[in-house]
Amino acid sequence: GKVLVNDQLIERTEAVIDIEDRGYQFGDGVYEVIRVYDGDAFTAEEHLDRFLQSAEKIKMKMPYDKQQMLDFIDLLIKENHLHDGSIYMQVTRGTTSRNHIFPGNDIKPVLTAYTKEVERPKEKLENGVKAMVADDIRWLRCDIKSLNLLPNVLAKQEAMEQGCYEAILHRDGTVTEGSSSNAYVVKDGKVMTHPATNLILNGITRQVILQLCQANQIPVTEEAFQLEDLRTADEIFISSTTSEVMPVVQLDGQSIGDGKPGPLTKKLQTLFQEKIE
Ligand code: PDD
Repeated sequence: GKVLVNDQLIERTEAVIDIEDRGYQFGDGVYEVIRVYDGDAFTAEEHLDRFLQSAEKIKMKMPYDKQQMLDFIDLLIKENHLHDGSIYMQVTRGTTSRNHIFPGNDIKPVLTAYTKEVERPKEKLENGVKAMVADDIRWLRCDIKSLNLLPNVLAKQEAMEQGCYEAILHRDGTVTEGSSSNAYVVKDGKVMTHPATNLILNGITRQVILQLCQANQIPVTEEAFQLEDLRTADEIFISSTTSEVMPVVQLDGQSIGDGKPGPLTKKLQTLFQEKIE
């Protein structure tokens, strides 16, 4: 397939990234994952706004504006005949002789993007998934969608080894989010999720879910909750671009509610489905 390197759409086999690319050496860059449904990039503008914000937060000047990147996305979808899948996009601080200090303005950031065909995780959305709890050992700027994902990778690997789909993270007992998702509990008909502070990534799916709650009179609060609230929740779900509204039916081997996706989670799934159709 075709991939984007800076503003050039080329064959993947022709793409060259230098071994001293700062993304490769320092994880010095930011990224986005955007879902494509039936040839349309879902909430692309919101993702690109966050992409630009992430770049700004690490003091990187994005080489292209939002409209140019929207055009790149459309081009990638068309050229690769992508119907249902995802777009991965990242920008690094460029290539220079290895040095922690930022390169000068003559060194341009390196933008890369590619597409992938992916089915919606229908079976998991229907039946729910298992999750485990893990320590949140990440840095204090989790609001930045940084390329540095080692703590997330370690947590997800641990989850996989325990037969779980996701690791839900906590800092000293306060639940933050999943290793690659946002986390929610439902208690007495009310949805709760960690506020969008420096301790979580403000998920685009999370923002869609909050809007859906507000528009449909579903009580929701952006409020930190504890591990105890998670373990005794009526329902748990997680959300991300690729996982959508995903029910969690087991936590550390214990059933949540009756061990099936709960009514509020299912209601939000229906509302979300209507948005992507
Ligand atoms: N992950 N929190 C973290 C730590 C994430 O990595 C993600 C997304 C989310 C959900 O954000 P959104 O709804 O905007 O996808 C929350 C992507 C999908 C990934 O790294 O693959």
